[in-house]
Amino acid sequence: MSRTQLFNLDGKIAFVSGASRGIGEAIARLLAQQGAHVIVSSRRLEGCQPVVDGIIAEGGKATAIACHIGEMEQITRTFARIREEFGHIDILVNNAATNPQFCNVLDTDLSAFQKTVDVNIRGYFFMSVEAGKLMRDHGGGSIINVASINGVSPGVFQGVYSMTKAAVINMTKVFAKECAQYGIRCNALLPGLTDTKFASALVGNDAILKTALQQIPLKRVARPEEMAGAVLYLASDASTYTTGVSLNVDGGYLS
Ligand SMILES: NC(=O)c1ccc[n+]([C@@H]2O[C@H](COP(=O)([O-])OP(=O)(O)OC[C@H]3O[C@@H](n4cnc5c(N)ncnc54)[C@H](OP(=O)(O)O)[C@@H]3O)[C@@H](O)[C@H]2O)c1
Repeated sequence: MSRTQLFNLDGKIAFVSGASRGIGEAIARLLAQQGAHVIVSSRRLEGCQPVVDGIIAEGGKATAIACHIGEMEQITRTFARIREEFGHIDILVNNAATNPQFCNVLDTDLSAFQKTVDVNIRGYFFMSVEAGKLMRDHGGGSIINVASINGVSPGVFQGVYSMTKAAVINMTKVFAKECAQYGIRCNALLPGLTDTKFASALVGNDAILKTALQQIPLKRVARPEEMAGAVLYLASDASTYTTGVSLNVDGGYLS
């Protein structure tokens, strides 16, 4: 009996933002294991290089490119380089996001509001526009937006962040509808509480963690690797008829 090739990414070019650690790193490593050449990206090249070195040491293909997704000129420059070096892109994983202020909504700073919107909405949007143009020229591709359960049910003291994640879920449907004609699919991953630096204020606080676990049927937080399989599904030919969906990977939290 032959094994399925549905999850094979040989010859594919994949870009993962925020891939120097956490969920993005786990995604980058799994896509590389499945054969993709992965562009490992974050604001700092030195953060990405160890991930690239690890992938290459395991026999995979990877390149580090620094890109602050809150800076428009860095997005433009990054995609000009991808066009020149790789000619096309098959998979974009918008994963890097920010949550600079943890506070009651009435105490929101304008600067924190602006930064959150610039990175989490404008960044995801124009990364998708740039990748979408390259995908359109090459017959298609798959865009995966890492949103959050907070996009459906806002997290306490995470108001602006939660609003941006709701926008990402809607953005996913916009790209799915308007880019299907170009062979481009667009789907969202909604992670639940996952043990990363990003969530350390929640996972590292015993009282907050205890309350959070009461709402999670599986009674534990996720490991970053537990997000990667869902992204592989959405990136690969296993999901060729799936577009515009939000896939909850949350231990049952939203059920
Ligand atoms: N952890 C959770 O519980 C959880 C739950 C739901 C959703 N999520 C979502 O999952 C995604 C990944 O989060 P994580 O928990 O893996 O976070 P993390 O471990 O803190 O990693 C964040 C990554 O993003 C990069 N980054 C931060 N700001 C950036 C920017 N402006 N431009 C480009 N890269 C940037 C960081 O590297 P540099 O510092 O080098 O830039 C790092 O590689 C985010 O979209 C987050 O909203 C997380």
